[in-house]
Amino acid sequence: MARRPLIAGNWKMHFTAAEAAQLASSIARGCRNMGDREVMIAPPYTAMAAVAAAVQDSPVLVAGQNVCWEKEGAFTGEISPVMLKDAGASMVILGHSERRHIFGENDALVNRRVKGALLHDLVPVLCVGETLEERDAGQTFAVLENQMKAGLADVGAEEAGRLVIAYEPVWAIGTGRTATREQAQDAHFFLRGMLAGLYEKKLADTVRILYGGSVKPDNIDSLMAEPDIDGALVGGAALKSESFLRIVQYTA
Ligand code: 13P
Repeated sequence: MARRPLIAGNWKMHFTAAEAAQLASSIARGCRNMGDREVMIAPPYTAMAAVAAAVQDSPVLVAGQNVCWEKEGAFTGEISPVMLKDAGASMVILGHSERRHIFGENDALVNRRVKGALLHDLVPVLCVGETLEERDAGQTFAVLENQMKAGLADVGAEEAGRLVIAYEPVWAIGTGRTATREQAQDAHFFLRGMLAGLYEKKLADTVRILYGGSVKPDNIDSLMAEPDIDGALVGGAALKSESFLRIVQYTA
């Protein structure tokens, strides 16, 4: 089953609007002929409109780094799906480990966000992943199972088919300690099996599962050679066009 690879950059809390637009322009220039793969960048909210303008004549997609489930209302500090789309986003990262571990977002909250994004036609990139303690305690698959079941609660098959999943082991994020290709493949295989169980195999075969956690120009090729790794969610190495474009131009 052919899944179109997706290379995604999560810019986290970096860049003013002008800096972001400049980086987005150079990424857009480097992505002119990307026929077989998709490229996504997730700038901070304040830079989103500038980034969307900078990539508008390119295939580069723009994503939010989080989103509320409501269209509008008394939700101080939140951004609505309508606002994200208005600023140029078509996708949104949800349940990122920094949201979960620094800001205390739990699975129930992530699930509300996933459903809100889907309702408003934003493609959610649902992030799951275990901590080092959980991995060392042999709980990796149990943690992933809980995060998937809770994160996708009440999400129907038709909507689930539009999702992207990102496996981001917490111990690999920003640490320079990438999961081995075997560790990543094992987790991705497990996650695809979960999708088959929650929905059906046909759907599981079409959903893209990205790997995130210290993805760099020198490890992307081997990661992408694994059968269940359909792309990458890149943090640090997405902050410079040279390294991000090298990752986009992986050869598996
Ligand atoms: P790093 O690539 O910096 O490890 O970050 C990964 C990440 O959290 C992407 O969402």
